Amino acid sequence: MHEISIKITINGKTYEKNIKPNLLLIDFLRDEIGLTGSHIGCDTSQCGACMVLHNDSGIKACSILVAQLNDKKITTIEHLQKNDVLHPMQEAFRNNHGLQCGFCTPGMIISAISLVKENNNPNEEEIRKYLEGNLCRCTGYQNIVKSIEEGANKMRELGDI
Ligand code: FES
Ligand code: FES
Repeated sequence: MHEISIKITINGKTYEKNIKPNLLLIDFLRDEIGLTGSHIGCDTSQCGACMVLHNDSGIKACSILVAQLNDKKITTIEHLQKNDVLHPMQEAFRNNHGLQCGFCTPGMIISAISLVKENNNPNEEEIRKYLEGNLCRCTGYQNIVKSIEEGANKMRELGDI
């Protein structure tokens, strides 16, 4: 298969590379540039463990080709912490025990931020509906919802919306 050249900015760093046209973003992140924080939990675009941010919106990195993201900017879970300070949504998950094994957590946090960027004061029902694309096998979701409520409040206070 012929390779194509792409330019993509991930977490503020620009990569110019030749890639196979069918390379998925999740494989690029994990295998080509060593960002393994985004997980692969399914092969059916259902679990949301692979989510990353594109223009403040969560996208499933297992369902998009790198070739579709030429000249685009992506943010992964690795880039949310700044100067050793957790993102308020990460802090809220920690405070509210919003995780157990942690496998789904990167995707949950990315989705939560994406939600708050769309709706800065989501109620419980809106949070649960937004999480339909994120599966957790451990927590029962209660503490995830509490985490997102707290994270949304903090993001609003900080003007990070
Ligand atoms: S790995 Fe992308 S949705 Fe499951
Ligand atoms: S915390 Fe284990 S899958 Fe969600």
